[in-house]
Amino acid sequence: MPQPVLFTPFAVRNVELANRIVIAPMCQYSAVDGCMTDWHLIHLGQLALSGAALLTIEATAVVPEGRITYADVGLYDDASEAAMARTLDGIRKWSDMPIAVQLAHAGRKASTEVPWKGGSQIAPTDPNGWQTEAPSAVAFNPNYVPPTALDRDGLKRVRDAFAASARRAAKIGIDAVQIHGAHGYLLHEFLSPLSNQRTDEYGGSLKNRARFPLEVLEAVRDAFPSDRAVTMRVSATDWVAGGLDISESVEFARMLEAKGCDAIHVSSGGLHPSQAIPLGPSYQVPLARAIKSAVKMPVIAVGLITEPTQAEAIVATGDADLIALARTILYDPRWPWHAAAELGGQVKAANQYLRCQPTQFKSLFAQ
Ligand SMILES: Cc1cc2nc3c(=O)[nH]c(=O)nc-3n(C[C@H](O)[C@H](O)[C@H](O)COP(=O)(O)O)c2cc1C
Repeated sequence: MPQPVLFTPFAVRNVELANRIVIAPMCQYSAVDGCMTDWHLIHLGQLALSGAALLTIEATAVVPEGRITYADVGLYDDASEAAMARTLDGIRKWSDMPIAVQLAHAGRKASTEVPWKGGSQIAPTDPNGWQTEAPSAVAFNPNYVPPTALDRDGLKRVRDAFAASARRAAKIGIDAVQIHGAHGYLLHEFLSPLSNQRTDEYGGSLKNRARFPLEVLEAVRDAFPSDRAVTMRVSATDWVAGGLDISESVEFARMLEAKGCDAIHVSSGGLHPSQAIPLGPSYQVPLARAIKSAVKMPVIAVGLITEPTQAEAIVATGDADLIALARTILYDPRWPWHAAAELGGQVKAANQYLRCQPTQFKSLFAQ
């Protein structure tokens, strides 16, 4: 059997990836005051034993009001830094998988209840809620409190907070930062004309709407060690007429690349309640392919990638360099093992698990 591309190594700046399988960021809504708990050690710890190439820590807020919910992880003070350091120490004892953190600000979609309690917005007057901030005072939907439009001081505060969190991430040994520019959160809100109605140099043309996300990229790049990767996750289309579309996202990808972004992770949607997403296997891969044809930086595809042969086809055809998994790997945390068995690849497994290798797959575990 020819060597599957999915199990060939790759590098994003300094980050050496054993294969092409990335674990996508996934909020767990299990933090206390921004601090990771034992849940994160259990959850991230088991994913760090999965044989994937890179573990991405969930959307991690750069300021308390940038959390989606009151139970989100933050990296904005000494306590939240210490809690993440403790989790990392636990994982690092037993896994050498590179670890990225997704730095985020939820913008106008912040201050909500956790999904399993309904996920609706919590009023600023509630102890678990706060006043949200965004590019413009345009609510996500009529049930949301309109956000406060960020003024110049606010923009500086948020930009500085991204940089400060990146410094904290560097200090505790995080290998890469992914800036969250997707899913209708703050930076995506700047990019989309539906949520950004500013009349200053941060609104209007794509160049203006891209200005703040690019400033955040520059601030994070300056704050994070130059030998470690800084990447961005984008929603390449809003799936709404009049919203951000793939042609503007291709342009934005070129701008990111020109500013030294090390990779782009191509997701979509989340900005507008009337989005019409054509859900189906690999539904976002055409977006990744369009961006890949316009830039040299590595491109990551994500979204309903569930089958090993499907993942192999994406990287083998060059639609993307890497694939990311969220629900797929939550459902089956040994998906990389099973994919390697099916495709004839090899994965790294912990010594403690070596004896579980089925005889028909005796070359599955790399030594
Ligand atoms: C439980 C859960 C939590 C998620 N949290 C985040 C997050 O923190 N940041 C983010 O950018 N996307 C988040 N997502 C979206 C995933 O990263 C991914 O883009 C999406 O689920 C599509 O991939 P999949 O079909 O493999 O699940 C989350 C998805 C799930 C299921």
